[in-house]
This record gives sequence, C-alpha cells and structure tokens, in this order.
Amino acid sequence: MLKIAVLVSGGGSNLQTIIDRVSDGYLDKVSIEYVISDTKGAYALERAKKAGIRTLTYDKKEYGDSLSGKILETLKGNVDVIVLAGFFSIIKKELIDEFRNRIINIHPSLIPSFCGKGAYGIHVHEKAIEYGVKISGCTVHFVDEGTDTGAIILQKSVPVYGEDTPKQLQERILVEEHKALPEALKLISEGKVRVEGRKTYISAQ
Ligand code: GAR
Repeated sequence: MLKIAVLVSGGGSNLQTIIDRVSDGYLDKVSIEYVISDTKGAYALERAKKAGIRTLTYDKKEYGDSLSGKILETLKGNVDVIVLAGFFSIIKKELIDEFRNRIINIHPSLIPSFCGKGAYGIHVHEKAIEYGVKISGCTVHFVDEGTDTGAIILQKSVPVYGEDTPKQLQERILVEEHKALPEALKLISEGKVRVEGRKTYISAQ
C-alpha cells in the first residue's frame, strides 16, 4: 500500500476525487493517512472528516515559517507520498529533502506557462485568458526547490474560447484535474514512474 498525506488549503475538489477513486477501487494500492490544511475552516477538511480520514490544521497565520517543519515532524516515517491538492503554502527544503521525488503537486496550467510565484487558483486562469492562449490545461509534477519547476508526470489540455471567463476556464480544467491526479497516483502506486533529472519515464506495465 502507498500511504499518502493530502495537503489542502481550500475547497478540496481534488481531495474528493482521490477519496472517491480510493473508495471505488481505482486507487486500490493507495491509502489516505492524513489530510492537512494550512487554513482553518477549509471545506476540504469537512470532506476528509466525512470520509473518516484523520485531519490536522496547521494554520499558516499561526505557524508561519515553521509550517514545513511541522508537516515534516508529522509525516516523516508515516507516509510514502505527499500530495499537494490545492495547497497554497510554499514547501521548504527540509521537507523536500526528506521526501525527494515523493511530493507531487497539481497545477491548473500547462507548465511552464502561467506558473511560479503568485500563480495559484483563479489567478492562473486570469493570466491565461489575458495572454490569449488557445489551449490550457493542468500538470501533475514532482515538487523540487523551485515553484512549479519539478519533473512533470503528466499533463492534460483543454481548449480556451474567446468568450471564456476565468471561472469557466477553471471549471473546464478542473474536470481534467480530477482525471490527472488519480492517474498520476495510480502510476506511482504501481511503481511505474521513474525520475531522471528533469524527466519522468512512465513504464507501460
Ligand atoms: C486546483 O485548480 C489546483 O490545481 C489549484 O488550486 C485549485 C484547488 O482546487 N492549485 C494551484 O493553483 C497550485 N499552484 P480544489 O481545492 O477544489 O482541489
């Protein structure tokens, strides 16, 4: 079993997808051990509680710079993989070093476009529409020291229409996120993802 912790900041629709795909058997080698929020009252916590998953809140206003250390203290030796599913705090080196190539993030654009500092949530879609791209999408990647710079595991694309609002584009991309994140987790749980430098290689069997 691949033991995971899911880190969240908000609504938790990606968390919900993982919960659903574990319970319908698609992620039959994954168990969700913890859901940790950096924001008090995040709706994602309600989703986790409903599913009987242990929840912790380390509010970023309270923990500030020690947030990563607290997460490390909690998860070291207790989980195999950390999933950032709409988690908006920056993860520090100490946590990345301990979980090298074992932290994944979902980002709502086709990296390397519309990512990096300040590009999170609805802002990503505002930037894509402002730029006038015709295709956007989502990316699941490993987390390294940079912001959204780690090796890419998989990407899914969607069309961007001239009349799209950021909210409409967000909703279209979320549908793909809810496929991409479970797919990436399934590949990892089956030992099919190998990382070499900036690249990942996915084995067929
Ligand atoms: C998702 O679109 C996720 O890709 C994005 O926040 C949203 C969270 O939604 N993450 C980032 O922007 C990270 N840079 P959710 O709480 O409903 O899963």
